[in-house]
Amino acid sequence: MKTKSVGIIGMGWVGSSVASSILQQGVCRELLLNDINEEIAEGEAMDLNHGSPFYPSANVKAATVEDMLKCDAIVITAGRGGESDESRLNLLNENIKIVRTISKQLKGYEGILIVVSNPVDVITYYYQKLTGIPSNRVMGTGTMLDTARLMDIVGDKINVDSKSIKAEVIGEHGDSEVVLWSKALVGNTPLQSWEGWSKEYENEITEQVKNAAYEIIKRKGATNHAIGMVTATLIKWIMRNENRIITVSSVVNGAYSLNDVAISLPCLISSNGIERILESEISMEEMENLRHSASVIHDAINSVKS
Ligand code: 2OP
Repeated sequence: MKTKSVGIIGMGWVGSSVASSILQQGVCRELLLNDINEEIAEGEAMDLNHGSPFYPSANVKAATVEDMLKCDAIVITAGRGGESDESRLNLLNENIKIVRTISKQLKGYEGILIVVSNPVDVITYYYQKLTGIPSNRVMGTGTMLDTARLMDIVGDKINVDSKSIKAEVIGEHGDSEVVLWSKALVGNTPLQSWEGWSKEYENEITEQVKNAAYEIIKRKGATNHAIGMVTATLIKWIMRNENRIITVSSVVNGAYSLNDVAISLPCLISSNGIERILESEISMEEMENLRHSASVIHDAINSVKS
């Protein structure tokens, strides 16, 4: 069997947490790290290698983007993270410049590209367009993180382990995201019929999930651990061909009548990338909110000058 390898471009808070989660989960045998500041990538590789007695065997080393073209998956975290009062969309003007540079280096890449940099939907859209990699092999972590936050917060509220909460956030990974309350389950019981559950809880938790990153950034300056676990887990499921259904961002043409926009929707993921974007019945209000969210991303996409 071919040795699995993963590359990470951008070794800031998020990149280093993705690396550490990848190693601890035993996702690959080779992990290549890249940063615009080469010494940071080298230092991270040294530091992570020194933990090798505590994770499944893997080689970690600093590398160029060109070296990474042979990797099964490449994760991109390069770009500025936001401030506690700054919308992710505000990062677009700066971070799009990095997309243009890295895209040129990724032309012809045959693996799976995972985009984490914000605003993740718009950035995913441009990586797909500028690299020409087919849209099933370019995905943004998108609302997989918001979905995890939702599962955690709902679980806490009703005192049930988060892994038994089946609920999803779709749309923009940002202020216009949409929680699918009408479809949420606890075990196999609809959340909305769970004893004691109320509409007030939904309003309160929707705000908490939406503002989670701002609240964390206000306290510690960045978010890194949960996104590290999300990204490592996503890659693990891809590498293991697990056929999981998760909410990730990709360029959508047709699903829910949305076109030419990168947005998170439930997707069936295999080792080939996105096998299928799943459409299911959602409430009219949720549909309206999803359309609004797509229009927010669309406007941001169109704001980028070519
Ligand atoms: C997060 O939601 C900032 O997008 C990053 O944690």
